[in-house]
Amino acid sequence: MKRSALARIDLAALQHNFGRVKQLAPDSRVMAVIKADAYGHGMVQAARALSQTPHYADAFAIAHLNEALALREAGIEQPLLVLQGFQNARQLEQIHEHGIQPVVHQHKQLELLQQSSLQGLAIWLKVNTGMGRLGFGLHEAAYVYARLKDCSSVAGITLMSHFANADQADHPLNSQQVQAFQALAAEFKIPTSLCNSAGLIHFPQLQGDWVRPGIMLYGSSPVNKQSSAQLGLKPVMSLNAPLIAINHLQAGDYVGYGSEWQCPQDMQVGIVGVGYGDGYPRHARQGTPVYINGQRSEIIGRVSMDMIAIDLSRVADACEGDMVELWGEHIDIDEVARMAGTIAYELLCNLARCRA
Ligand SMILES: Cc1ncc(COP(=O)(O)O)c(C=O)c1O
Repeated sequence: MKRSALARIDLAALQHNFGRVKQLAPDSRVMAVIKADAYGHGMVQAARALSQTPHYADAFAIAHLNEALALREAGIEQPLLVLQGFQNARQLEQIHEHGIQPVVHQHKQLELLQQSSLQGLAIWLKVNTGMGRLGFGLHEAAYVYARLKDCSSVAGITLMSHFANADQADHPLNSQQVQAFQALAAEFKIPTSLCNSAGLIHFPQLQGDWVRPGIMLYGSSPVNKQSSAQLGLKPVMSLNAPLIAINHLQAGDYVGYGSEWQCPQDMQVGIVGVGYGDGYPRHARQGTPVYINGQRSEIIGRVSMDMIAIDLSRVADACEGDMVELWGEHIDIDEVARMAGTIAYELLCNLARCRA
């Protein structure tokens, strides 16, 4: 069934944001993170948009091998980094066959590399400097590095780690992570990669050989103290939906499930054809902004599965069929995310799931 809510993807904005990364990290190579279907924007189309000079990403990162294989199938030729690496010898063969690069983050992968008769693999050694997700512990990093160097299957090693709090420049764990990472980098003397979007903005001195931006490519601010506009980023996705009804309600009337909104006076209420079934966040609070006919307005009452109600008191010229922007050029997705108690990453990815 065709949905009335419409997500548009502006690939020129993606290219613009990539250009901002290049300005902010002029001396590093850029690995564009396009996992989770490019954060809901369409992995292949995002990769193609970032394979055209002057917006040429030096590499792409995805979470899983099947994403990398789909990119190769689509003709993407840049280096591809699989952030979760591989689970077995068969996957390692596929990695080798398609010139893909794996993250190596656990002993089983080291063993598979040691046992392998393949040659020429470029791998990324991931260490856990404080994120506590994937990566070898600091105490074993030197041991693992030495074993990897001895593997006949391994032709190149890049050292990587991931920040847990890069969005907050003054978070105390950042300096611990940086110190640990720098100590290993000084010892191993191999190419390095530490910074995601927030990291490359907050810590330019740590950009290293490779930066790995994700969210900022899509136009959402990765840092808590600057908006996307302040960072010169443009929204790539916009979500719009039509006004499907206009109700003239009276003071005291209720709107929506749970009757949480009661009209303070006689007023016009617009019903917009979008809801949590379309990927709009169900927890968006009363007051979450929307944009209609050149003006900001806001949602009232609870979000339903395929509808929301908006206040039209100040939008006298609204007509059924008018398009309402839920996020995009006029409504910053980060503002919507804050009002819904979540992050733009989740809104973008949810929308992809609903579109599929
Ligand atoms: C290892 C790694 N590097 C880089 C990124 C990109 O992060 P961001 O989207 O915050 O720039 C991610 C995303 O989660 C990641 O897991």
